[in-house]
Amino acid sequence: MPLIIRNEAKPMVVEKISGKFKNLFETEPRLFQSPGRINLIGEHTDYNEGFVLPAAIDKTIVAAINLNSKKMFRFYSFDYEEYFEIKISEIEIQDTLWANYLLGVIAQFQKNGLAVAGIDCVFGGDIPIGAGLSSSAALECAIAYGINELFNFKLSKMQLVKMAQKAEHEYAGVNCGIMDQFASVFGLDKQVVKLDCRSLEHSYFPLDLQDYSIVLCDTKVIHSLASTKYNTRRMECEEGVRILIQFAPEINSLRDVDMDLLLEHKSELEPVVFKRCKYIIEENRRVNETCLALEKNDFELFGNLLYASHEGLKNEYQVSCKELDILVDFTKSRKDVLGARMMGGGFGGCTINLVSKSSEEEFIAAIAKDYLKRTNIILEVYKIEVSKGTSEIS
Ligand code: GLA
Repeated sequence: MPLIIRNEAKPMVVEKISGKFKNLFETEPRLFQSPGRINLIGEHTDYNEGFVLPAAIDKTIVAAINLNSKKMFRFYSFDYEEYFEIKISEIEIQDTLWANYLLGVIAQFQKNGLAVAGIDCVFGGDIPIGAGLSSSAALECAIAYGINELFNFKLSKMQLVKMAQKAEHEYAGVNCGIMDQFASVFGLDKQVVKLDCRSLEHSYFPLDLQDYSIVLCDTKVIHSLASTKYNTRRMECEEGVRILIQFAPEINSLRDVDMDLLLEHKSELEPVVFKRCKYIIEENRRVNETCLALEKNDFELFGNLLYASHEGLKNEYQVSCKELDILVDFTKSRKDVLGARMMGGGFGGCTINLVSKSSEEEFIAAIAKDYLKRTNIILEVYKIEVSKGTSEIS
């Protein structure tokens, strides 16, 4: 049987985290939440200044935070059941990996000349780690938002997003784009957001899939982007731009490159770099086509675009893995699935599936059975709701 994870009763999570805080630090914390995200389409386009189509989900990180007078940062990870502390003057990258997400954010405030005095924090939540739902971005955003409120720094939401992204670059070693942190902070209930990752202009539209719903299937292959080829992919794209700019000085990023330009200079590019660039150009086009398809309620087309995205991610961008491909391939023979693809950075994590509501349970049972047979792994399935972004819990 697949493990179907439904939304945990949120009040329970909040109560447990604030209870643990009071127990450990004996003061009354303020509580903040920041969600994970899905991405309908537009993968690896964010750091190429392209388009993405994410939404915040009802799986969140909850952080209880308060000031202390000890000149210390004292953290407790509820899920790892681990305590960590450091003097505020000694902030630097740590061996305790989860602490780096918090310290990375604090370091950004410091770099911006905003002194963060000692704080205590207990955090935890129900975003599965390493499943491609951006648990790390959610943690960074909860901390950034919480500190901004506690110290009344009055930074804008976009400033907080950029600081959270920098924390990931500098303290987690992943040169990520802006999508995850943006979606976590700017998510709105029942809305997906189309983000132009260059101008940061964004527009929301309601996600109404009518007879279909989104089902996430978790390979349980945990991806850690720092140890994968994420940064290499980014460099390969930059290499493409470096070559192409010699022929078209007006370009800044792959966002500006069209297929004609790329094909014209195919022989100048390493075959691998050519493939990466081709995928990005096509994926950006698919984001725009998906928006049009959703406006017209053309779910068949949306589904086909999901499959096309997966093909590109698998063959040209090469960030899929055997388990993700097994899950996507399985859906192709089923009439009740309109489309599926790997989601997020890749190398493991989840697939996103567009499934007919009427046969959802049957689909889940069938894919889990097939997956177990082929991989010996028990599939986890997440049903999600599109929800609001980072906020204080009152
Ligand atoms: C990770 C990164 C994002 C984005 C995706 C791929 O989630 O954090 O910035 O690049 O991978 O679309």
